[in-house]
Amino acid sequence: MAIPPLRYAAWRRLWTDEWSFPVDERLPHPAGTAPDSGDSRGKCCIVFGVTSLLLAAVLAIGEIATGQARATETGPTTIPEMWGAWCARCHAEDGTGQVSEPTITGVPMDFTDCAVTTREPDADWERAIAKGGSGVGLSPEMPGFEDSLTPAQIAGFVPHLRAFCRDTGWPSGNLNFPRPIITEKAFPEDEFLLLPAISHESEPASASATNVGLIAAYERRFGRRAMYEVSIPFYNWDFLTSRDSEIGDIAVALKYVAYASATTPRIVSFGLEATLPTGRLYKGFGKGTVVFEPYIAAGTMLRSWYVQGHGKVELPVDPLVDRAYLYNLYVGRDSSSAPDAWTLGVELNGENKQLWITPQIRKGLTATGALAASLGVSIPVKYQREKVVSWVGYLLWEFLEPLRARK
Ligand code: HEC
Repeated sequence: MAIPPLRYAAWRRLWTDEWSFPVDERLPHPAGTAPDSGDSRGKCCIVFGVTSLLLAAVLAIGEIATGQARATETGPTTIPEMWGAWCARCHAEDGTGQVSEPTITGVPMDFTDCAVTTREPDADWERAIAKGGSGVGLSPEMPGFEDSLTPAQIAGFVPHLRAFCRDTGWPSGNLNFPRPIITEKAFPEDEFLLLPAISHESEPASASATNVGLIAAYERRFGRRAMYEVSIPFYNWDFLTSRDSEIGDIAVALKYVAYASATTPRIVSFGLEATLPTGRLYKGFGKGTVVFEPYIAAGTMLRSWYVQGHGKVELPVDPLVDRAYLYNLYVGRDSSSAPDAWTLGVELNGENKQLWITPQIRKGLTATGALAASLGVSIPVKYQREKVVSWVGYLLWEFLEPLRARK
């Protein structure tokens, strides 16, 4: 016989409340008042002589009474007490995850390791505590607490976890906004990226041409606030009589977080990119000179909207090559707090006097969000010469994040 869904839900709630939460965690017995404290009560009576029997009995009754009073308390109330009572058996009192008698197979993240923890946004941790490991694509050994804790209590654990990292100067993961397709991010990343672009030129007077580009980029953090990047562009261009595949100008870049405030949240970074003349100039695959490109990248949140901006100047070493001014502005928001959420956004991309608008959609591809893809289309709104619409996007892999939950 099928259980009617409503009744089933009620029954399940009863079941969860009463039983499925490990019993020893539910019982209110703060340290020192565990049931075995009766032993010491027994011992104390033996050492007293017959003459003090009465006194001992009174003391024992007193102890039992206070013991009972403690037993009716409602368990840990402050965050550190809750951490000790509910979390420490897996995460260790000191947050390292190193416990002497592990009850689980996986070792949780070491909360004292600033390089690992600071990059995590608060929202991910809140979600992990509320929904359990499976809510953020991690191990289901991490239980969910949303049925037993209030949202305020769950949020209260985050500063407790943050305090395990004793080092300062690391930009907070709250500033790690989703990457736009063209706008440079201010937050430093450990990422491998593929950025394809397909543009279709259709001049009314001539035949149409489809050009394909693919940039492969490797980004690596170092120190607390810095990152370097190497990117190699590949092109496959249509020259009407032939198609050519070539490498373009390889670029190396450094980025440094100059200002980061987790609470506001606001981040500003400076970068310097240098493109090397590895691409062939005469077919347009390269600029034929070293180009230095200082830039500034910034990000903030307005309510639940991400706002990211980026401006850079291209300064070619060869004085015959023109300078260029580029600026990008991105606005977007997530569909949910899950790491595999959809993010909808739009960019304005300016280069000198030209301007494009690039609506885009991004999606985390794994439950942990370690793989993500984005797709957009760049449409010219102000242009000087030909009108070219390009499909742009990326596939990114945050290679330090787990791809999927450990079993
Ligand atoms: C039964 C063991 C267990 C208990 C109890 C437990 N955790 Fe966890 N927790 C884990 C494991 C295991 C992971 C790591 C999962 C992974 O990396 O796949 C984890 C992950 C986390 C994460 C996510 C960290 C990350 O990798 O991003 C947070 C935050 C967290 N736990 C907080 C808590 C808090 C707060 C409590 C107590 C209210 C708690 N946990 C209780 C086992 C536990």
